[in-house]
Amino acid sequence: MELTIIRPDDWHLHLRDGACLTTTVPDTAQSFARAIVMPNLKPPVATVSQAVAYRERILNALPEGMTFDPLMTLYLTPELSPDIIREAAETDCIHGVKLYPKGATTNSDAGVSGLDNMMTTLETMAEVGLPLLVHGEVTDREIDIFDREAVFLERTLAPLMERIPTLRVVLEHITTEDSVEFVKAHPEMGATITAHHLLYERNDMLAGGIRPHLYCLPILKRSKHRDALIAAATSGSPQFFLGTDSAPHAVGDKESDCGCAGCYTAPHAMALYAEVFEAAGRLDRLEGFASVFGPQFYGLPVNQESLTLVKRPTLVPMARPFGDTEVRLLKGGETLNWTLA
Ligand code: NCD
Ligand code: ZN
Repeated sequence: MELTIIRPDDWHLHLRDGACLTTTVPDTAQSFARAIVMPNLKPPVATVSQAVAYRERILNALPEGMTFDPLMTLYLTPELSPDIIREAAETDCIHGVKLYPKGATTNSDAGVSGLDNMMTTLETMAEVGLPLLVHGEVTDREIDIFDREAVFLERTLAPLMERIPTLRVVLEHITTEDSVEFVKAHPEMGATITAHHLLYERNDMLAGGIRPHLYCLPILKRSKHRDALIAAATSGSPQFFLGTDSAPHAVGDKESDCGCAGCYTAPHAMALYAEVFEAAGRLDRLEGFASVFGPQFYGLPVNQESLTLVKRPTLVPMARPFGDTEVRLLKGGETLNWTLA
């Protein structure tokens, strides 16, 4: 059995930098024509010239014969000015601004602690039509880690959307039923959903042993939330689209006393999503989710090429090279039903 769809795009991706790019760039480009590239490098991608230079480094790592268009983003630091937003809007390579609440996740130290001082920047984004891509978690220590997304909706996102209703917003890597309902209640916004949040719930990570390679942020939630995400992803609603949040870390940084958050899914993301859509009896809706709704939201054309998946049991490699070490793949050593043709 084969499934041919319009070539997909990844609307939330971490490629990292330096020597890692020779793995991460081809791993994504073998499936995806474009990807929204996250700016959480150290130091962050915070200016137009930094984004343009990072884009060049990504393209330099693309093997001959492959095509890939990195869609760049800027990091919302306290210094991100309306002037930089206007400059970004004039380029054709910057497609969003990423909000990391300070301290929420990997390399988020440069993020903002609140939005009150950022209003003119956010208003300028609304004016020029540059979307805000949101890591939707509060960071207060007194809020339980499993509640941080739901509390963010209420405390930060709802007031922001009321204050600037014309701001285009993507709620990234949603993990809860609360977010699904919030997005549905705001028909002008979009949301990305990862493969790992569709495949796993928190028991998979914590029951019978702790599995550091399933640790990501926002953290996996209980199964009713995973079920709500599957229903949203396979619903055919154009508000929900593919964003892998593929976030590689060196194996030693994951298997550690204080392990990093992030799952590496770029090489086999489409096979992972296909498992979910097939199990839901909705393979017919994979193309909309993976290849149509994202471009629609971002005002870009859908891709001309196609991608074919074949139903054939295929072993997921344990790891891929990562600079001078390696990165473990999600489901490494396990068999998936689908593979790239
Ligand atoms: C991401 C990373 O490692 O950059 N980690 C993750 O668990 N998803 C950051 C992020 O998107 O939160
Ligand atoms: Zn991410």
